[in-house]
Amino acid sequence: MADDAFVPAATEWYHPSKDIVRHAVIKDYDAVYQEAMQDIEAFWAKRAKTLDWFRRWDKVLDASNAPFYKWFVGGKTNIVLNALDRHVKTWRRNKLAFIWEGENGDKVSMSYWRLWQEVNKFANVLRSMGVKKGDRVTIYMGRILELPIAMLACAKIGAPHSVVYGGFSEQALADRIEDAQSRLLITCDGAWLRGKIVPLKQVVDEAIHRSPVVDRVIVVKRTGQDINMEQGRDYWYHELMSLPIASTKAETEVMDSEDPLFILYTSGTTGKPKGILHTHGGYQVYTSTTLQWAFDLKDEDRWWCAADPGWITGHSYIVYAPLILGATSIIYEGAPNFPYPDRWWRIVEEYGVTILYTAPTAIRGLMRFGEAWPGRHDLSSLRLLGTVGEPINPEAWRWYHHVIGKDKCPVIDTWWQTETGGFMITPLPTVGLKPGSATRPFPGIKVDVVDDDGNSCAAGEEGNLVIQGPWPAMLRTVYKDDQRFLNQYWTRYSKQGWYLTGDSARKDADGYFWIIGRNDDVIKVSGYRLGTAEVESGLVSHPAVAESAVIAVPDEVKGSVIYAYCILRAGFSGSLALSDELKAHIRHEVGPIAVPEKIEFVPNLPKTRSGKIMRRVLKARAQGLPEGDISTLEE
Ligand code: WTA
Repeated sequence: MADDAFVPAATEWYHPSKDIVRHAVIKDYDAVYQEAMQDIEAFWAKRAKTLDWFRRWDKVLDASNAPFYKWFVGGKTNIVLNALDRHVKTWRRNKLAFIWEGENGDKVSMSYWRLWQEVNKFANVLRSMGVKKGDRVTIYMGRILELPIAMLACAKIGAPHSVVYGGFSEQALADRIEDAQSRLLITCDGAWLRGKIVPLKQVVDEAIHRSPVVDRVIVVKRTGQDINMEQGRDYWYHELMSLPIASTKAETEVMDSEDPLFILYTSGTTGKPKGILHTHGGYQVYTSTTLQWAFDLKDEDRWWCAADPGWITGHSYIVYAPLILGATSIIYEGAPNFPYPDRWWRIVEEYGVTILYTAPTAIRGLMRFGEAWPGRHDLSSLRLLGTVGEPINPEAWRWYHHVIGKDKCPVIDTWWQTETGGFMITPLPTVGLKPGSATRPFPGIKVDVVDDDGNSCAAGEEGNLVIQGPWPAMLRTVYKDDQRFLNQYWTRYSKQGWYLTGDSARKDADGYFWIIGRNDDVIKVSGYRLGTAEVESGLVSHPAVAESAVIAVPDEVKGSVIYAYCILRAGFSGSLALSDELKAHIRHEVGPIAVPEKIEFVPNLPKTRSGKIMRRVLKARAQGLPEGDISTLEE
């Protein structure tokens, strides 16, 4: 990535046009920010009142057991009440909720009415299979409409879903099934990717073999190849959906504001993934407000969040928030450059997409193919662009703004995390932009860059990014592991009561934030979040590997790529063939996204005297940079 990515107080400004300002829901960021800060509870209560509740809350925020904060205490709701039920009572029942395009050219448009019916039918199927409020359901699917349908059906009946991204493989899926103790799993036979079938059901069979808690599997037919269907365990979705039990009417479970909506596993500093827990009440208020204000989302828009529903971006901004706002969303199944590098631009043109939200890695990837591909298409429907997942280098930002947005679409660079549930630092469309900065915090959010003692860093100084107060979509805990929740996020600045993000950042003289990246053992490859420990434990599960260390090395397109260093067991020697075998092993165990770019066999690893691997030293060596202070290095 370009080095100019993190220049604080850049003088390059981009201001919104009059049209953008005229159209915007929130015209004066500063005024709204101040209003929110004066009375956080009143601010969020006002937002919550725009939604439907079975029963309104008694108290907006309960901080008596911080950091186990509670929001909209005593409120009764269900996110599906707002995402679907209320819309089918209005004209919106006829509006398109989703426009879906398969990689192979299949197309489905689904109205709110039809989506509501499908969700009801599937909710009845789940209930008939014995799924009850509180039961965890694992979902492992490609990017097809049955994925949001399954998520919404779970939410409707109060069963927390745990969606596992389809780019994870056997062991990763098995670990997540095990932790959630899901008895029911929803999947599909396969997914289309770059013209080939990703055999998802096969991965499921192996994962269940390793984590046998699952006793029911529902399989959506997507790719149609022959698959193993185990009698008494595996059921076809389309067969279940045509049973009389699958009626189009289903009760929406009355949920407490604080009842769990979903668990989403994310990577942390150990090999064991963390189950981030989100709830019905605060999450619906926060995600819908942030989407509406940051992307000025209106009924006439066609919103395309090109992420995967299997990550938090898809949960919040493909499934829940857009539906709560009654928006029309695009979902595209496959790869951006299949069959040609203009696939995305063709989709923008064909459906008249007005807002496109994606990751820097995708922008950089498409940028490589040159301007001619987007140049063939009419992209004039676009009015806003967005980015998420990692810092965007100014060069990619300018290309996105100029070539795709024709210099008229503000680039909304949203900084947030699985844990935060929704955007935390983001421009609103009316705010002046600097390429590479996510600008300022969302109204109601207080953030700062601080040193290890919690002192606010001076402008331009690098420090820890912290969030200085609760917000409605904050994670409630790490599933079944309150201690990890405390240690990970709240111990470092426990005196002040701040949330530790794990990111390093700088603030500039204008109060704009510049994210540098993770300062823990979490890495971002093509915008996907992974833990070095997950890849390392994948490597040492191979008989040849005694010990390994994994680092992230900067890469022009992917942001970063993985380098792995392995010490081999006696009797094995390093070779190209072994390196290929280890890559295949990781692909199989953890998933394609975790495959190292490079594997190096080494006789030992740089460690501190207490035995901790010094990844910093490996990183410097890999990039040919000075190794810095190595005084703590073991002999
Ligand atoms: C990084 C993704 C810079 C950051 C929504 C964070 C970003 C991690 C941005 C969370 C951005 C996300 N600019 N960095 N706009 N957005 N990040 O949980 O390091 O997959 O901590 O959530 O992504 O990744 P996660």
